[in-house]
Amino acid sequence: MYNPDLYKTPYHKESLSDKTFLVTGGAGFIGSNLVEYLLKYGAKKVRVLDNLSNGYFENIKEFIDLPSFEFVQGDIRDLESCRRAVADIDYISHQAALGSVPRSINDPITTNEVNIGGFLNMLVAAKDSQVCKRFVYAASSSTYGDSKELPKVEGREGKPLSPYAVTKALNEMYAEVFSKVYGFHSIGLRYFNVFGPKQNPNNPYAAVIPIFCKHFIEGTQPTINGDGLTSRDFTFVENAVQANIKALLKESLIKESVTQTHEVFNTACGDQVSLNEMVTLLKKISNKNIDAKYGLERAGDVKHSKASIEKIKIELGYYPLFSFEDGLRISFNWYRKNNQ
Ligand SMILES: NC(=O)c1ccc[n+]([C@@H]2O[C@H](COP(=O)([O-])OP(=O)(O)OC[C@H]3O[C@@H](n4cnc5c(N)ncnc54)[C@H](O)[C@@H]3O)[C@@H](O)[C@H]2O)c1
Repeated sequence: MYNPDLYKTPYHKESLSDKTFLVTGGAGFIGSNLVEYLLKYGAKKVRVLDNLSNGYFENIKEFIDLPSFEFVQGDIRDLESCRRAVADIDYISHQAALGSVPRSINDPITTNEVNIGGFLNMLVAAKDSQVCKRFVYAASSSTYGDSKELPKVEGREGKPLSPYAVTKALNEMYAEVFSKVYGFHSIGLRYFNVFGPKQNPNNPYAAVIPIFCKHFIEGTQPTINGDGLTSRDFTFVENAVQANIKALLKESLIKESVTQTHEVFNTACGDQVSLNEMVTLLKKISNKNIDAKYGLERAGDVKHSKASIEKIKIELGYYPLFSFEDGLRISFNWYRKNNQ
């Protein structure tokens, strides 16, 4: 039931057997990985709220018979569904959103409704809950927008480059305001290009790593948008899960004020890998000599991205255990095994 390559290291100290969790978007890529960790380490209850618009029942199917697991098919755009989902829940991880820059350019209205309206509903439901101990949400590196500064440091953001980036920046503004106005404190994790098992390659808005793994498995040529020098701080999903666990559960945060304010943390490796370098590694991992084609640069994308991870290291005790190459190897093998 559990992937033998993943979650061999526990990132929490206290027992999970008396703790209840809600993972919105838990049928999606990152959410289902977090669910796997929580169930593997014996959480008392893990509830998923997902409308399956971009996630897959397949990602959580293996957990469905566990008494500690509960799947609720529902939409975060409905406040009552959010209120029901947070009932009896100690720790909330809000992952549900419509990702992808191109999707938001094609359909800014739906992205706005889900990512802003849905986010606000979850924030209100969590604030009104009598039992919620911590609210952690998926923020995004896209919030750095047009800033060319590297590495990206929290507090030094540029202007958004896409409708998606607007929604993620606005989430942070709402969370900040809820902290000031209602004393409801939360933590945003600014993910930098997360990849790994259960990320779907067969979706019109699929991310680059699943698409390229699929090409290498099938022996077909992938297309790089641009010159291949575009670089990202690619983050293996187990590193992102570690950040979530620490943000949710770390009782004695190194800096206590983290739980008395709204804080955002870059969640990444602090490294930079170009698309050309990724193709070179895929050749090595797959043992196939396939060269990429080159196409047009994509709208709404920044050329380079690399995070400073000082803040999350110091304040949450996070340390990325998986390098890009380790993560790419595990992901490639997972796609090969699962015929994705
Ligand atoms: N993957 C990345 O590299 C990355 C980077 C930055 C931020 N993020 C953010 O992390 C979160 C998780 O991303 P992911 O890559 O796992 O994406 P994903 O699409 O695999 O997961 C998101 C899940 O949310 C669900 N969802 C969408 N709209 C919903 C709605 N209205 N009601 C209920 N559920 C809904 C989808 O069905 C899906 O299962 C998202 O908030 C995303 O914006 C991801």
